[in-house]
Amino acid sequence: MLNTKAACISINTGRMPLSSDSPYFESREFRETWRAPGRPSVGGRTNLASFPKAADAPAFAGIIGRSPAMQELFSLIGRMAPHYRSVLVTGPTGTGKDLIARAFHQLSPVAQGRYVVLNCSAVVESLFESELFGHVKGSFTGANHDKPGLFEYADGGTLFLDEIGDMPLTTQAKLLRVLQNQEVQRVGALSPRKVDVRVVAATNQPLPRLIACRKFREDLFYRLSMIAVKSPPLVERTGDLPLLEAHFLQRFAAQYKKNIRGMSPAVISRLAAHTWPGNVRELENVIGHALIMATGNTIELQDLPAYLTSTSK
Ligand SMILES: Nc1ncnc2c1ncn2[C@@H]1O[C@H](COP(=O)(O)OP(=O)(O)OP(=O)(O)O)[C@@H](O)[C@H]1O
Ligand SMILES: [Mg+2]
Repeated sequence: MLNTKAACISINTGRMPLSSDSPYFESREFRETWRAPGRPSVGGRTNLASFPKAADAPAFAGIIGRSPAMQELFSLIGRMAPHYRSVLVTGPTGTGKDLIARAFHQLSPVAQGRYVVLNCSAVVESLFESELFGHVKGSFTGANHDKPGLFEYADGGTLFLDEIGDMPLTTQAKLLRVLQNQEVQRVGALSPRKVDVRVVAATNQPLPRLIACRKFREDLFYRLSMIAVKSPPLVERTGDLPLLEAHFLQRFAAQYKKNIRGMSPAVISRLAAHTWPGNVRELENVIGHALIMATGNTIELQDLPAYLTSTSK
């Protein structure tokens, strides 16, 4: 192992990758010596060349962050993922719940199995149960052949039920039974069949409020929230802004084949002052927009979307 100063130099010059499980990461001396990527360098510009490569940014299963809130989240996921059968991921829109769901799968014992996604808000109510549990031929008009549902398709893997708050109440009751018994019954079938599926459910809606207005079953909520994680809004982890900015700058610079070296100090302070109601998705869109608009090799204020600069005047 290198001494701390040598490790910092290697990481800052891109010769050594930095990850949150690096042996150096826990050391206070290291944290104090390591120059956080994205901080304005001498000369007043954030210099993209001084960022670690996007792939080397402190990330956990592809989720970027090193703020205390994110380290706490990574630690929870790391402890829960090997053991969970079902998990509830909550948090505001754009905070990375899809990434968290995938992390649970990747770090679970069924990582080699299928990862199947169902967006519950996109399914027609009458077809919901057939979609999830399958059906047998003739069980309803249009059921012309036997069809397995997503639970059977995800057998041996993970089913991600996104926007779970939009699942119809009757389907919720059946989902609860599947979670309890690990068996599904195709619509119209006489007997259930065993499945081995881990379920990650996510929502940006406050489920207790849906329970109060009888749109979500309390028993399912308690079952799902036995193991639950919350994805924090970006305002609670502004320390991650430079890392996320660097990540998106590098990604969009490569995508649009632009030689962008960094952001002006005015842009950095404008982004730092914003409250990010759309969270990381909003930041991603802002940087994508700025990269398209930029004419020089630095992102300037006029490259940002108008709604950000008009409020700064
Ligand atoms: N910590 C992060 N590191 C890197 N990219 C992130 C991070 N968090 C979010 N993103 C990116 O931001 C965008 C929005 O994330 P995601 O779709 O996971 O949000 P969400 O919480 O599921 O939102 P919604 O509730 O609207 O479905 C995605 O492109 C995702 O890759
Ligand atoms: Mg989502």
